[in-house]
Amino acid sequence: MGFRVAIVGATGLVGGEFLRVLEQRHFPVDSLRLYASDRSAGRRLPFAGEEIEVAETDESSFEGVDIALFSAGADISRRFSPIAARAGAVVIDNSAAFRMDPQVPLVVPEVNPEDIRSHQGIIANPNCSTIQMVVALNPLHRVSPIKRIVVSTYQAVSGTGSNAMDELRQQTALLMDGKEEQIAPKVYPHQIAFNALPFVEGFLENDYTTEEWKMLQETRKIMHEPNVPICATCVRVPVYISHGEAVNVELSRPMSAQEARDILSKAPGVKVLDDPRANLYPLPIWAAGTDDVFVGRIRRDVSHPNGLVMWVVADNLRKGAALNAVQIAEVMVKEKLLSTSRRR
Ligand SMILES: NC(=O)c1ccc[n+]([C@@H]2O[C@H](COP(=O)([O-])OP(=O)(O)OC[C@H]3O[C@@H](n4cnc5c(N)ncnc54)[C@H](OP(=O)(O)O)[C@@H]3O)[C@@H](O)[C@H]2O)c1
Repeated sequence: MGFRVAIVGATGLVGGEFLRVLEQRHFPVDSLRLYASDRSAGRRLPFAGEEIEVAETDESSFEGVDIALFSAGADISRRFSPIAARAGAVVIDNSAAFRMDPQVPLVVPEVNPEDIRSHQGIIANPNCSTIQMVVALNPLHRVSPIKRIVVSTYQAVSGTGSNAMDELRQQTALLMDGKEEQIAPKVYPHQIAFNALPFVEGFLENDYTTEEWKMLQETRKIMHEPNVPICATCVRVPVYISHGEAVNVELSRPMSAQEARDILSKAPGVKVLDDPRANLYPLPIWAAGTDDVFVGRIRRDVSHPNGLVMWVVADNLRKGAALNAVQIAEVMVKEKLLSTSRRR
């Protein structure tokens, strides 16, 4: 039996990845409805050998939908997710709208799949930088509980959406043509091409950014560790796809790099690429378009006896967004949590 699926934000970067991931993983789709804003109504997008017309999202979009995948920003999620849930759909939401709501599970299937069971119609997909970090850290945490995390991110422009990718492309072309004076940043406050911006999203009263604070709060919620100390610095870099993260983790006991490699080699969703002398370590260009969280440069942190350092890279549009959401839906299918009782 297949499911009636709707994608809200189907024309966006994450929306396009939803279409590819559903098709590539042979998700049991009975029917697929595509929604976006009025700007895209009437556009046709390919799926499984057909072309599906995009419609404007409205209150009636969710009648007869089993699973609604949202990736159109937090305002749209706040407005339409409760409507979709009331209409009987299970919403899997990619925005930040409900992530810290205590009634809403925040799920990474490799880490806390059991939380899906407590949903009340809406399940939140975590922030992209958080997902890849917890997939890499949770297997170590199970062996030796984590005492502290310090992370610095190197985040791709696709994390800001398609406009940011266009901006990087245009600025790079202007710089290569020697037309630097024509650069007029719109998406970011400064030039992103050949640069690094030491913030992601907006600043909070405490001088951290919203992205840094999401990494702290969401990691604690997903790992069920409400007090674990975490400090993040999030940086935007001129990479199209895939976020990199330098992660320092303090465990409960000393762990050798080899033990960490052995644990991570067996961990679900993780691929260890760690032979630096052969120039083998995770690269954003290799991770782009793939499903795994890549981990390399694993070594002892010489500043702390129980410390480890590693470099973690994953495709922010796939594992950081669309893939993780579809994996949540797959768990629900496998565990029969999308029961026929939700179907009208
Ligand atoms: N990019 C990432 O790495 C990433 C990772 C995790 C989560 N997310 C989240 O996913 C969401 C989308 O990100 P994205 O990168 O795909 O952005 P994007 O490429 O800019 O796409 C935005 C999508 O939202 C739709 N939309 C905008 N206004 C709308 C409205 N009023 N009603 C219905 N749909 C509307 C757009 O439709 P039109 O084409 O009609 O404008 C488009 O389909 C955001 O919440 C983002 O935080 C993104």
